[in-house]
Amino acid sequence: MRDNLFNHQTDIADFRFDKEVVEVFDDMVRRSVPGYDSMIQMIGLIARIYGQDNSNYYDLGSSTGAISLSIALNNKSTNNQFFAIDNSEEMIRQCKKNLRNKVDNLQAICEDINQIKIQNASIVVLNLTLQFIDVSLRSGLIKKIYDGLNPGGILIISEKIHFEDQMTQNQITKLHMDFKKENGYSELEIANKRQAIENVLITETKETHLKRLHDCGFNETSCFFQCLNFVSFLSVK
Ligand SMILES: C[S@@+](CC[C@H](N)C(=O)[O-])C[C@H]1O[C@@H](n2cnc3c(N)ncnc32)[C@H](O)[C@@H]1O
Repeated sequence: MRDNLFNHQTDIADFRFDKEVVEVFDDMVRRSVPGYDSMIQMIGLIARIYGQDNSNYYDLGSSTGAISLSIALNNKSTNNQFFAIDNSEEMIRQCKKNLRNKVDNLQAICEDINQIKIQNASIVVLNLTLQFIDVSLRSGLIKKIYDGLNPGGILIISEKIHFEDQMTQNQITKLHMDFKKENGYSELEIANKRQAIENVLITETKETHLKRLHDCGFNETSCFFQCLNFVSFLSVK
């Protein structure tokens, strides 16, 4: 369904992943995140390399299940358990619907990713999810993931970022707005969405992400994707 949630002038409440958003999510994310489909495709290809037999795969903040599906379609390993976790009941309902008969051994669970246990993992993905986690909880979450990964296992993080340098920040923000306009969003929709999301989606710089990953134990991190202010990191344990 086409996203037109923000095309009228109303009081803007903080953004939530509720029923209305779930209905338009797939359209919203594709028209808002440059390179979203490439991210999904690349994560599948990377998972194909790093997946381990008899291990768990975690899609944290799974939304409608695009990452779980990409990993499952590329999976060359055997005897894996898939966990798609999201704290929005509506998202989990849609995720289950989308992945029914497509992903074997899937548990789609409505839970806070800060509360779950990560164990015997070879693949953990936070695709556009960490940015919605309270900044004070981010290091604890990454450390928990590190501890739950098997040696040779990976964490993939995709995030919207910002830039310290103001000129770069302004230039990239303008290009991101142009991208959204090109995809059919009006200036009003862009402004309303920004207002709704600004207290909810907290960006950090690339350097902050890299430092946190290192401090949590990941010695090896590469950036395998960047388009404007969206990046994806691959960290290997
Ligand atoms: C932008 S979406 C993620 C997109 C998805 N990974 C994909 O690639 O299509 C962010 C998701 O994180 C979920 N989320 C936010 N905070 C969470 C938390 N503490 N625990 C679990 N899920 C959370 C939201 O409900 C939302 O579905």
